[in-house]
Amino acid sequence: MKSKVRMGMIGGAAGSFIAGIHRMAARLDNRVELVAGCFSRDHHKSLELGKALGLPAQRCYASYQQMLQAEAALPVDERIEFVSIVTPNHLHFPIAKAALEAGLHVLSDKPATISLEQALQLQLLVQQSRLHYGLTHTYAAYPLVRQARLMIEQGILGAIRRVSVSYPQGWLASAADSHASVQASWRTDPSQSGESGCFADIGSHAFHLLEYITGLQVEEIAADLLCQVPGRALDDDGAALLRLTQGARATLTASQTCAGLGNNLQISVYGELASLYWQQEHPNQLWLQRRGEPQQLLTAGTDCRYLDPAVQQSCRTPAGHPEGYIEAFANLYRDFAALIRQETSSVPVCGIEAAVRGMAFIRAAVSSSQQNASWVSVASLLAAKSA
Ligand SMILES: NC(=O)c1ccc[n+]([C@@H]2O[C@H](COP(=O)([O-])OP(=O)(O)OC[C@H]3O[C@@H](n4cnc5c(N)ncnc54)[C@H](O)[C@@H]3O)[C@@H](O)[C@H]2O)c1
Repeated sequence: MKSKVRMGMIGGAAGSFIAGIHRMAARLDNRVELVAGCFSRDHHKSLELGKALGLPAQRCYASYQQMLQAEAALPVDERIEFVSIVTPNHLHFPIAKAALEAGLHVLSDKPATISLEQALQLQLLVQQSRLHYGLTHTYAAYPLVRQARLMIEQGILGAIRRVSVSYPQGWLASAADSHASVQASWRTDPSQSGESGCFADIGSHAFHLLEYITGLQVEEIAADLLCQVPGRALDDDGAALLRLTQGARATLTASQTCAGLGNNLQISVYGELASLYWQQEHPNQLWLQRRGEPQQLLTAGTDCRYLDPAVQQSCRTPAGHPEGYIEAFANLYRDFAALIRQETSSVPVCGIEAAVRGMAFIRAAVSSSQQNASWVSVASLLAAKSA
């Protein structure tokens, strides 16, 4: 039997959102074991959750610094091998940095950091450490998103002409929503969210999905970010025009103020021969429209032999038994565990280079919007900051 990879989690005490999903996903394939955690700044809360999860009290730490130090003192075959970071954005960089310096691999939730400068520093640290770094851009781990990427790589769509990606949510539609939950409070606070609100939180997902599926890169951005709800310090809505490599064009919109909406992330990729459409609220359906042919619906499942074998392996049930968000997260954990155990040499769905591009996207969008939506070059931003 393959040994489980030992994980320490930072963030995720009772009342938090995404950490519970991470823990379920990490368990799903029996490849990862949670053995330690600092789930909150409040030691009591951390202990309480750790106890409920069956962890020994001495491995439920009062701070992430204490956790990294104490774990390093344990025998090599007991100590944690990687950290999973599920805190608000402003802590991603200091925690990832400290973990890498302690010799641990890092699986962080997005966005990678709160600034492009931090992301570039992190890239250097990852490169120097030779450790693995992954960012949990969940949507790129759905089986049919992986299939779409392969179909585009194989040339089924021909040259890509246009992409339309949008991520409308509605949970911040009113002023009262800003402080209705801890999740909303920190996301609307620049000191914890970073220089953007909505574009950092979900625009970054849309951007990553676009580059991941198409294999193209965004070269220039003209963006119009705004606060639909007056008084907010950060954008809660916005739209961008994008110029991509190979002459393709795209539009990207993200909003948290579309009343009534859940998580309706969707992407259309239009090529010279065919077009694809995928929607995260119906993740097991991928629509293919070839010129002059009836529309085809591809579904996900272990028995769908028309899917690439690697995509079939990222499914756990036959077609018609729906898989979803937790399973997509589980694919990220399974892949990351395989990477740590050197069973694969492929980079995670989103490694450090894509993580840096995500931060460059946020900076470019904010900067363009401040200049009345004038064009900003992502490549020039990266070159200037790396120099
Ligand atoms: N990949 C996705 O689909 C997805 C979805 C939701 C959230 N996220 C990301 O996950 C992260 C967490 O978001 P959330 O909505 O779960 O936030 P949350 O506010 O629900 O949870 C944050 C947790 O971090 C803990 N925390 C804060 N400071 C800490 C510290 N110093 N040490 C230890 N723990 C600390 C809090 O106690 C809390 O448990 C964010 O970066 C967010 O962008 C990603």
